[in-house]
Amino acid sequence: MKFNSNGLFISFEGPEASGKSTQIKLLAYFLKKNKIPFLITREPGGTKIAEKLRRIILDKKANITATEEILLLMSARMNHINNIIKPALKEGKIVISDRFADSTFVYQGHVNKYGMKKTIDLHRILLNNFLPIKTFLFILPVNQIIKRLKKRNVTNKYDKIDTSFHKNVINGYMKLSKNKRRFIFIDALNSTNEINDKIVKSINNLILK
Ligand SMILES: Nc1ncnc2c1ncn2[C@@H]1O[C@H](COP(=O)(O)OP(=O)(O)O)[C@@H](O)[C@H]1O
Ligand SMILES: [Mg+2]
Repeated sequence: MKFNSNGLFISFEGPEASGKSTQIKLLAYFLKKNKIPFLITREPGGTKIAEKLRRIILDKKANITATEEILLLMSARMNHINNIIKPALKEGKIVISDRFADSTFVYQGHVNKYGMKKTIDLHRILLNNFLPIKTFLFILPVNQIIKRLKKRNVTNKYDKIDTSFHKNVINGYMKLSKNKRRFIFIDALNSTNEINDKIVKSINNLILK
């Protein structure tokens, strides 16, 4: 299999419980089986410092403003890019991140009303507009999100059972992804195997390019 020696940076995005982590696990299984070098990481987090910041950012009791949260997220992200993502890409790996900058554009920019454009502008200025080559965007109707969340424990402040919150998240992702070729839409109602097939096909196309 021909492999792009510059590495590939790919992110998984979408609302809570849309199946991102499930699909990353299945993709990892495929990459391992085919001996394709890869690295799986997540945001907020990915490094020791960024994981510490994650705890603060996702703390249900933390009393911080949207702006303060954005600054923490962006410093965590810079640390993650410099210490984990860029080195792995340099080694030619496929780097897969469970959430990345788009989550900040949607959750802090759109949902928490800091402003999506302002958040994207900050990313451009502070993080040199570092973005994945492709982003799998999982779309799931809000009633299904609530149904799936009820089955698992609420673990952080964005995991809450709140219909209007999740609708707002979905609207944010729709606005962000409109007319952008970077996004590959995933119908999260499909079976895990069907979704895995679609993702593997997309990855194969990217590798063979
Ligand atoms: N395609 C699917 N169909 C039905 N349920 C799914 C599917 N993918 C994942 N799930 C279930 O939905 C829940 C959330 O999945 P998860 O991968 O943790 O989502 P996320 O990482 O996006 O929050 C889990 O209980 C998982 O088993
Ligand atoms: Mg997850």
